Amino acid sequence: MLPFDYQPRTRLIYGAGTLSRVGQLARELGGSRVLVVTDLGIVAAGHAARALDALRSEGIVATMFDGVRENPDASDVERCVAVARSGDVDLFVGLGGGSAMDTAKGANFVLTNGGEIADYKGIGKALRPMLPLIAIPTTAGTGSECQSFALISDPVSHLKMACGDPKAAAKVALLDPELTLSQPPRVTVCTGIDALVHALETAVTKKRGALSQLFSREAFRLCIHALPRVLSVPGDLAARGQMLLGAAYAGIAIENSMLGCTHAAANPLTARYGVAHGQAVGLLALGVLRRNFQNAAAADEYLALARHAGMDSVDELQTHFAALLPLAGLQVSLSKLGVIRESLPEMAAEAAKQWTASFNPVEYSVSDFESLYQEVLE
Ligand SMILES: [Fe+2]
Repeated sequence: MLPFDYQPRTRLIYGAGTLSRVGQLARELGGSRVLVVTDLGIVAAGHAARALDALRSEGIVATMFDGVRENPDASDVERCVAVARSGDVDLFVGLGGGSAMDTAKGANFVLTNGGEIADYKGIGKALRPMLPLIAIPTTAGTGSECQSFALISDPVSHLKMACGDPKAAAKVALLDPELTLSQPPRVTVCTGIDALVHALETAVTKKRGALSQLFSREAFRLCIHALPRVLSVPGDLAARGQMLLGAAYAGIAIENSMLGCTHAAANPLTARYGVAHGQAVGLLALGVLRRNFQNAAAADEYLALARHAGMDSVDELQTHFAALLPLAGLQVSLSKLGVIRESLPEMAAEAAKQWTASFNPVEYSVSDFESLYQEVLE
């Protein structure tokens, strides 16, 4: 068994309607001037107003930054920092999908430690204390609420910079499944597939351990069964709750196990072609699984994952997963996403440079990445 070092940094609160507790929780953490970091969709859904009301009912001065954009970059972080600075805030609330939580974390780095977000690329670059963060996901996908990483796009290459520090982890993750009912169908699909791929990837990385595997397996079991249900019956609160919890567990698995070549290969697709992250990882996941399966230990882990989810074999797991993409309305080829053959070598070179590739159980050369793309081109 591999050694591990597990320090839970985030208090997890799960339950329908728990958004109403955000004011009391902010108070407990010493917050008196709170910035809610969110996007206009969450404002339109009414969640932001409920969060602000809950904060103000505790006598907290609550302000809002509603300018979060998808795949936030350094300029998004700077805009959020300016609002936080003018409000002299002492606590952040990240309310929304991964982009909202990442923007809040990114702003927290720069506000408390100075410089610019690129200074924090890597792990443990923040030398001064950071403000407490309450993370409230409204999608079931990234697991950012359970991680100490802010994923911010490099404005030039558009590739994601992972800025991680134990101090950046949320003090509280508030998991309220009612908030996920308002997700547009496309968001439910893309984030749900992403959560499932997080479970698959974390299960086999070189950094996996007895602890991370608990979370990978349970995340996979919850999401593989609940995802078809939330696609067919979007109002099923129990299934929404399973997805939300599964995504959070997968986030804990990432924090302890990192990711692998599916994410390495997906990032250039998003950076170059704007392919949605969930679509990209969903399309590439089984190709990576088949290569990883050549590693005996990884093969054992995939089988354990399948069995924990009530399946007899890894073949059954693959069949189940493969059926999800068309069911979810996702494309099953790169060409349908506008990707041309000529760009594969350059994308493969970028994929091979991704940090997450280094944790994959099987080594990938540039030509391995190229053939991975090639397999799903048409
Ligand atoms: Fe992901």
